[in-house]
Amino acid sequence: MDAFLDTERLTLRQFTADDADLLTELDSDPAVMRYLTGEPTPPEHYRERGLRNILACYERWGGDFGLFAAQDKDHGAFVGWFLLCPEQEGPLDEVELGYRLRQAEWGRGYATEGSKALLAKAFTELGVRRVWADTMSLNDRSRKVMEKVGMTMTGTLDTPPDMRKAEGAEYGGVRYEITEQQWERLQ
Ligand SMILES: CC(C)(COP(=O)(O)OP(=O)(O)OC[C@H]1O[C@@H](n2cnc3c(N)ncnc32)[C@H](O)[C@@H]1OP(=O)(O)O)[C@@H](O)C(=O)NCCC(=O)NCCS
Repeated sequence: MDAFLDTERLTLRQFTADDADLLTELDSDPAVMRYLTGEPTPPEHYRERGLRNILACYERWGGDFGLFAAQDKDHGAFVGWFLLCPEQEGPLDEVELGYRLRQAEWGRGYATEGSKALLAKAFTELGVRRVWADTMSLNDRSRKVMEKVGMTMTGTLDTPPDMRKAEGAEYGGVRYEITEQQWERLQ
């Protein structure tokens, strides 16, 4: 399959219908889900509809946006995923950035490397003008990634209903953003 994006150490590709187990295994680690739903995602979620929705996004946006599996280039091992996606009914030039990596892959700079490459692709190839990313207030690792790629905090968020079991849900979330002009000034 063609790569969506290559970085120095990672290849990002579309998920396929065979990838439900990769996604379920990633979400089975309490450390990964700590600031998300706060609990493992049941295996039937990806088997029955989660993966179908992911694949439908590629169709909808012609492969430009969606959730992309990251593999390390040396071994082809599944590292986790990155998200670059507009809202369902939102404008195509405003997109969300996200990432979820296997715990064994934290602390290697992969999230920052993938996010930087996605911002570059978004602003130089995909006609994007603004990228945002949301995370729980206490998710310091995630906030650090946003800051390292040049995003700045623009607001606070209420905890969404499906994240009430996340650690620190009572503190709500934060939104970070970067515009095309801000990104260009950093290059
Ligand atoms: C959020 C998450 C992706 C961050 O991953 P991460 O590995 O901490 O982030 P980075 O890729 O930026 O790596 C940073 C660390 O790698 C280290 N590092 C090692 N080698 C490196 C290299 N070659 N280049 C850059 N950094 C490197 C850095 O020193 C840094 O360590 P520090 O944070 O202690 O200073 C990860 O914690 C995760 O998947 N969490 C669970 C899901 C989640 O919460 N997602 C976000 C929801 S909004």
